[in-house]
Amino acid sequence: MSALTNDLKKLTEAAENTAAGEAGFRQKFHLMPPVGWLNDPNGLCQMNGVFHAFFQYSPFNPEGGVKLWGHYISRNMTEWEYRGAVLYPDQPFDCSGVYSGCAYIEDGEMYLYYTGNVKLEDREDYDYINTGREANTVLVTSTDGEHFSRKRLLMRNSDYPSDLTMHVRDPKVWKKDGIYYMLQGARTKKNAGQGIIFQSEDKLNWTFRSRVETEEPFGYMWECPDYFESDGMKVFSTSVQGLEGEEWKDRNVYQSGYFLVDGDILGEYSLSEYYLWDYGFDYYAPQSFETEDGRRIQIGWMGMPDCEEYTNLTIKEGWQHCFTFPREVFVKDGRVCQRPVRELDEKKHLAETASGHLDRDGDQTYEADITGICGNAFRAVLGEELILEYRDGRFEMRFKSRAKDSVSAGRGLRYKEMSELTDVKILADISSVEVFLNGGEYVFTTRYYPKKQGICVDAHDAEIRFWEI
Ligand code: FRU
Repeated sequence: MSALTNDLKKLTEAAENTAAGEAGFRQKFHLMPPVGWLNDPNGLCQMNGVFHAFFQYSPFNPEGGVKLWGHYISRNMTEWEYRGAVLYPDQPFDCSGVYSGCAYIEDGEMYLYYTGNVKLEDREDYDYINTGREANTVLVTSTDGEHFSRKRLLMRNSDYPSDLTMHVRDPKVWKKDGIYYMLQGARTKKNAGQGIIFQSEDKLNWTFRSRVETEEPFGYMWECPDYFESDGMKVFSTSVQGLEGEEWKDRNVYQSGYFLVDGDILGEYSLSEYYLWDYGFDYYAPQSFETEDGRRIQIGWMGMPDCEEYTNLTIKEGWQHCFTFPREVFVKDGRVCQRPVRELDEKKHLAETASGHLDRDGDQTYEADITGICGNAFRAVLGEELILEYRDGRFEMRFKSRAKDSVSAGRGLRYKEMSELTDVKILADISSVEVFLNGGEYVFTTRYYPKKQGICVDAHDAEIRFWEI
């Protein structure tokens, strides 16, 4: 280990030793950074029965800073053990941050592909789009997620198509018919977001193969692209920056969603409209993986970059952000749906059933299932300030106050038009709420900072089941 890596490791451990403990708004069953800042999920996988979740980690600053990879493991996706920071920005090709990437598993070996971020020194003529930065594709391998091979630089900007800016990142790798494919997100010189596909026969030497693009430009940058097939549907997911116009004006600053692919993503294809993964305030940069029992699991960052509208009251506790609870992605009646992973069933016990009305005080971590909703009659209030309600042909998630020091920490209203509401599943942790509608067809996720915990539901004759977690 080099002196730089060694010192970064020691500094990280020292920062972690100052962590405030599990009080305040710390979550119970969502992954958080031990201290400091967390963003994207990275290297999600299951190997020899063990789940690995790496994350973008800035231990030295709860408002973000240089990025490392932190590492959690689990046997059930409900309880996670922190195993330390594992990848540090310690090479010339990743010195400004070990950016996002994936895990590809083969023959008991984990291949971690990531973006080595390099930001050159401030100079007036750098725009940091076409000049002043590098995005390198890097590989490290491991058999346990804890000990790593040396880092190998596989590609640099000059290896990418020449019509791209310096913004190319977040590799995701899969194998099909004996060939390896790597998808990366990119911004073209004409400011269009795209997916770029490379191919390889040996996982080391990669050549450009093709692009994933819309007919008309759709945002200026596509981050964290992902591609998978689920129940016969082909899903191309990406987090898009720069969407403008009426449709996006009441939404988050950046979006995470997917296109359905008709045809061959590597050849002739057409893309559907763009569907959002989540209609709430806090959801970005999701990544998926396949479990050993064949399920497609997706985890997102429960946060939003570059967001001035709202904040997180955990910053003064010395940490910020968490992951969403892992979700199974599945297809129902031709629609891509999401639900909390079934492993959660082992963690919850039925505390109350009710018809039409439920009032609970003090519960902090729970699941509330409301089924058989009639006439779209549904309203719930969480922590006295967060309202979930169907009205005027749409489902709303809204806060009573959008003051920065209130329960919302600045969040206001998000909504999605829908003609019918049949059921609602609310998954609440200490400072987050994930709401699954109509069997998981639509999801709303938000952080919140309740002063008084509890939930009150009104839904005519609907059946309500309340589970403690
Ligand atoms: C998405 C993202 C990625 C990048 C990483 C850096 O949130 O911007 O594109 O690799 O975060 O932390």
